[in-house]
Amino acid sequence: MIQALKQLETEARQEISALSEFEKLADLKIKYLGRKGLFVSVSSRISELTPEEKKFAGQEMNRVKKTLEALFESKEESLSKVPSTSSGIKTDITMPGTFSSSGNLHPLTQVTMEVVDIFERLGFSLVDGPEVETEHYNFEALNIPLNHPARDSFDTFYLDNGKLLRSQTSTVQIRVMEKVKPPLKIIAPGKVFRPDATDATHSFMFHQIEGLMVDEGVSFADLKGVLFAFAREFFGPKTRVRFCPHFFPFTEPSADIDIWSEKRNDWLEILGAGMVHPNVLKAVKIDSEKYTGFAFGMGVERLAMLKYGVEDIRHFFENDVRFLRQF
Ligand code: PHE
Repeated sequence: MIQALKQLETEARQEISALSEFEKLADLKIKYLGRKGLFVSVSSRISELTPEEKKFAGQEMNRVKKTLEALFESKEESLSKVPSTSSGIKTDITMPGTFSSSGNLHPLTQVTMEVVDIFERLGFSLVDGPEVETEHYNFEALNIPLNHPARDSFDTFYLDNGKLLRSQTSTVQIRVMEKVKPPLKIIAPGKVFRPDATDATHSFMFHQIEGLMVDEGVSFADLKGVLFAFAREFFGPKTRVRFCPHFFPFTEPSADIDIWSEKRNDWLEILGAGMVHPNVLKAVKIDSEKYTGFAFGMGVERLAMLKYGVEDIRHFFENDVRFLRQF
């Protein structure tokens, strides 16, 4: 029996040291040390021995068992240190890993967030208004009566129930001033709709960001200061800004604000603005003798096209990931 144990030990040593695949180690361990393994079957012969022989054989059994256990343990350790595939090929740990791809915000969302952030730092509060509106908010309250020619430039889509899709975010000015009395400073981004034929610079739906400040003693100089600060923060500190006289029914005086584009060597309009018309303040029951204010509205697509050099507005709405991934 002692002989058999020694033989078992030698064979096990050889087999363990020859083994190179971690996955096969468990099987080998079962073969030798399992409940029906070779060690148990050799050891069972102890019952055939005399009491003196038993004592020695018992010691030998313990020694061999401990030896085998230690051998398996150290083999397990050394094999698990070598990264291997089931085919035994070592893994190249310098290979790039597998990444889960994460998306990014739509460029128009990014621009909107950036603009809102700039105005929030200037003390404006973010507000929201409905896209489905009444004629009152889109026209009348903004000093555009039914027969006024300016209705044409803010024409929109009408719904069967007499409501319409807002054609400008200026509607939010009215909704806010109905509820909140001055002093107030708000910024209101959102979708607007106009029945324009789609081309490189027109879309039947686009985004605007409206701004409004009303308080005692607000002047055109405040409007200029705020919009200059915005343009330089958004387009860079050296940005040149120009105010051109313009007409809007809801502001007086009104201006179009242009920025200089080195790339195009030309001025480009980025927004409309002006001092809130007294008739607008009257429509929301704010004393136009006591309070004055300014308002402005900018096109988000226009800002994004200028900032990123996008040539065609349709890219923003086609959901082509090759375009969207670049932002
Ligand atoms: N609502 C105007 C437009 O859509 C922009 C504007 C807003 C002008 C506020 C003046 C004041 O063109």
